Amino acid sequence: LPTLIGGLVLGYLFGSIPSGLILSRLAGFGDIRKIGSGNIGATNVLRTGNKKLAAATLLADALKGTIPILIAWQWGFEPALAAAFGAFLGHCFPVWLGFKGGKGVATFFGILLPLSWPTLIAAAAIWIGTAWFTRYSSLAALLTSALTPVILFVSGQTLLAELFLAVTFILWYRHRENLRRLLNGTESKIGQK
Ligand code: G3P
Repeated sequence: LPTLIGGLVLGYLFGSIPSGLILSRLAGFGDIRKIGSGNIGATNVLRTGNKKLAAATLLADALKGTIPILIAWQWGFEPALAAAFGAFLGHCFPVWLGFKGGKGVATFFGILLPLSWPTLIAAAAIWIGTAWFTRYSSLAALLTSALTPVILFVSGQTLLAELFLAVTFILWYRHRENLRRLLNGTESKIGQK
């Protein structure tokens, strides 16, 4: 149990680092929460017009998930899973931002990488395909996250499927405004400010 809690706390500490907020402030765009959707993620950082900054945010938000898993794995597989969940929670609900964090997409990919890289490849393909055809980042994330637990379950990775089912619930909850906008046709597309 102490290693499970250790993994969860370690993950949370990494996950709660607001990369998008820090990077866009350093780049001179001020508070990213005052731009576009107000989210601190890569999709919204892209709305500053700076693609490199968006890519850096994507990478940093993904690594926040990957790194604590690799550390916690030394204590066992279950602590690594706890670190994954902690990182995802930390990203979505960081104590430093009054628990109002990101929507979890980059961190979702970042935790999938060390846990099941073949599933990451499938998930990335679904995201890219959906984003390419619809230009909706949020729709791509909703679809990818819904299918990931199914892929994990079908490929026999039951414990991971259960973890990602919980993660997907949170991701959908964090996308509830996007969902509303998608349904009434007001969601903004990638490349649109
Ligand atoms: O990854 C976040 C994306 O799915 C939605 O971001 O800024 O359009 O709400 P945003």
